[in-house]
Amino acid sequence: MKKIQVNINSVISTVPENEIHALESAAAKPALEKLKSGTGEGNDFLGWLDLPARTPEHHLDEIIAVANDLRNSCDYVVSVGIGGSYLGAKAVIEALADSFDAYAPVKPGSPKVLFAGQNIGEDYLYELQEFLKDKKFGIIVISKSGTTTEPAIAFRLLKEQLESQVGKEEAGKRIVAITDAKRGALRQLATEEGYKTFVIDDNVGGRFSVLTPVGLLPIAVAGYDIKKLVKGALDMQHECLNSGDDNICELYASTRNALYRAGKKTEILVNYNPKLHFFGEWWKQLYGESEGKDHKGIFPAAVDFSTDLHSMGQWIQDGERTIFETVISVEKSAHEKAIPSDAANLDGLNYIAGKRVDEVNKMAELGTRIAHVDGGVPNIRITIPELTEEYLGQLIYFFELSCGISGYILDVNPFNQPGVEAYKSNMFALLEKPGYEEATKAIQAKL
Ligand code: PA5
Repeated sequence: MKKIQVNINSVISTVPENEIHALESAAAKPALEKLKSGTGEGNDFLGWLDLPARTPEHHLDEIIAVANDLRNSCDYVVSVGIGGSYLGAKAVIEALADSFDAYAPVKPGSPKVLFAGQNIGEDYLYELQEFLKDKKFGIIVISKSGTTTEPAIAFRLLKEQLESQVGKEEAGKRIVAITDAKRGALRQLATEEGYKTFVIDDNVGGRFSVLTPVGLLPIAVAGYDIKKLVKGALDMQHECLNSGDDNICELYASTRNALYRAGKKTEILVNYNPKLHFFGEWWKQLYGESEGKDHKGIFPAAVDFSTDLHSMGQWIQDGERTIFETVISVEKSAHEKAIPSDAANLDGLNYIAGKRVDEVNKMAELGTRIAHVDGGVPNIRITIPELTEEYLGQLIYFFELSCGISGYILDVNPFNQPGVEAYKSNMFALLEKPGYEEATKAIQAKL
């Protein structure tokens, strides 16, 4: 099977190749060893490292069986979660789905997956509930901690709605909870209500959890092959976790750190396929939460080209020279579409008549790369053969392992997220949550 590839040729005018390889030997290889031996900071969160190899077939079969129950009993399944309990499933489903699936009628046995709990938008929740009023729906509620406010609000509303639409007993059959084995309000609720549950292991952090039931169940409900997804990740685990030289995870991690040291403080993940928009969102969380700490870390941004060349293109070409790009290039599109010839040729497009749309897209990609590199924006290029479950599995594991290596090169703990708590405690203080009385007084004094 083909593999994803990493090419750094368009970086070496900014950072010489020998510098990157020196960093690889001096820092990336020891970082990978630290991950494997579990001797680095955050070593209680390394469950993702060999997860593809540790995932037994029967576990995947159980997830598929529960997904099939939901597929057979629902037209819509709302996946409730935020951050790591949302982005992985959303990224994979969007990458594999037909771009207009949302507007197509529901087919029996093939429900549409909707998302909630990833915001506190009152209009979003109101409109979702209005939409679901006359629909057969189920809920997957996902929260590792079981205490996160956003999904808790959405779940409270949706649970009440489902129970009033189909009764408590039937609602209980259409709700699946994914949470900690023992702790948290969601675990207690699931036990009391008798929901089917899956466990998120303690040693797998939210942003590394897409290959656990957190990501796999919604992806299976959407009709995609989670065995192939995990198989792709396993291939990448075999390729990169124990490999000697030519390790693409070490190469990517070293290159981005070398660029960071050379003053390139922002990494823009670029795609030329709109199906990868949410993959960029997943990647932003993975790298942002893992590396942005101790007042360090590359700022992860993402754009969709060529769409954003018409909005962000000017800045990238000509703004402050503190950025580099990592381009995900999909070699082969799933469908073919040629540009038709037109007798009048008023739009002047006949010079590309007969060419495939993807050929034009590839020239946009190549032209942009040359322009950006000439303009002082180094490019790392990641090539993925096609958008399939296997290759997405490879890409997910590639970015996860590279992230662990990169975080250790940067000398941060890549597996905690202390900064995420600050807004939560302020929000709780402002909402006068019991237990926050002193914080409420302190914050009100600031207003
Ligand atoms: O990476 C993380 O740990 C966070 O972003 C979480 O994924 C997010 O806050 C959701 O947490 P939980 O699954 O506990 O509701």
